[in-house]
Amino acid sequence: MSSSTYRVVDIHTHMYPPAYTQLLENRNSIPLIRKFAGAKEPRLIILPAEAESLEKITSEDPDKTSSHLPGRPVTTHYSSLSQKIHFMDSHQIDISVISLANPWLDFVASEDAGETAKSINQEFSDMCATVPGRLFFFATLPLTAPPETLLAAVGHVRSLKYCRGVILGTSGLGKGLDDPALVPVFHALAANKLTIFLHPHYGLPSEVWGPRATEEYGHVLPLALGFPMETTIAVARMYLAGVFDQVPELRLILAHSGGTLPFLAGRIESCIVHDGHLVREGKAGPGRRTIWQVLREQIYLDAVVYSEVGLKAAIDASGVDRLMFGTDHPFFPPLNSDEQGEWESVTWNAEAVRKALGDATDRGRAVMGGNAVEVLRLHEDS
Ligand code: URA
Ligand code: ZN
Repeated sequence: MSSSTYRVVDIHTHMYPPAYTQLLENRNSIPLIRKFAGAKEPRLIILPAEAESLEKITSEDPDKTSSHLPGRPVTTHYSSLSQKIHFMDSHQIDISVISLANPWLDFVASEDAGETAKSINQEFSDMCATVPGRLFFFATLPLTAPPETLLAAVGHVRSLKYCRGVILGTSGLGKGLDDPALVPVFHALAANKLTIFLHPHYGLPSEVWGPRATEEYGHVLPLALGFPMETTIAVARMYLAGVFDQVPELRLILAHSGGTLPFLAGRIESCIVHDGHLVREGKAGPGRRTIWQVLREQIYLDAVVYSEVGLKAAIDASGVDRLMFGTDHPFFPPLNSDEQGEWESVTWNAEAVRKALGDATDRGRAVMGGNAVEVLRLHEDS
């Protein structure tokens, strides 16, 4: 494949391969997959915000047919490779960089995590090999495993032909991404040219949404606001801890166009230079790399923001050469039209690129695929 050929690349697209769904089916607390009487498909219940409705329905009568079931139906879109390819074909997507969806292996016991990661990464690798050139993947790390197992996993995923990085949540080893114990992992990822795809899962504490949220507001608040704030906070903590300076070769793609980082970077800067403690400690003086610089040097953003307003902010913050189109498939399926047809959640993101950058422009093409091909080396097949 020539790198000058125009390709549409989806870098934010998930799968729950069969080995992972089995893991969830065997669980009694979230994350889990559970069947409910009267519901055609089993349901995937993963978000902390869904725990309350799961508890309620379980304590009432788990077999009672209810119209208000927690979670989302597990359709073929979650696990089936042929369904992923059909989705790509029906949205003119040439290449997808697939990743395990949240909450990855965050809940897996320490002693099982290494082997579980290995088998899931192998499953991803095998899927990619089935359709050469159309699929690459971000691997999953066994974050709950002992440090030596975790570091060995980085070496293992580096050897997988179609692996181009790792998907990472914000909890790290349990203390967030500003945890000094993670620095060796970041060094190992950077040394192996594995880009981190940083993705939220935990949102914000459910009290923030108020007492009416569970019954009345669906998943809107945790997904629309909790997810992006989680990403913003995680990266701000990394920045304040000096992680980007400690590991200058580290590269991250931030989900959902960086949460609110492009919009709040100016405020973060102002708070730093006006913070007496940081100024006294010499952490706000000349020579400091600003968050704006980090956004342009070590961070890429996906274009999963659904509007040209947010997309323009992302472009202004990181540069048009650092944005990459994504879909978030299989999440946000159409609710009033055929799931095998066009998904509005996808067309909104493509439309935002067209509105922000024009129709069939070089800049638009870069965001729709060219940047991903270059940054993730999708023209190389090893
Ligand atoms: N909901 C999730 O749980 N994950 C996503 O990636 C998108 C929506
Ligand atoms: Zn996602």
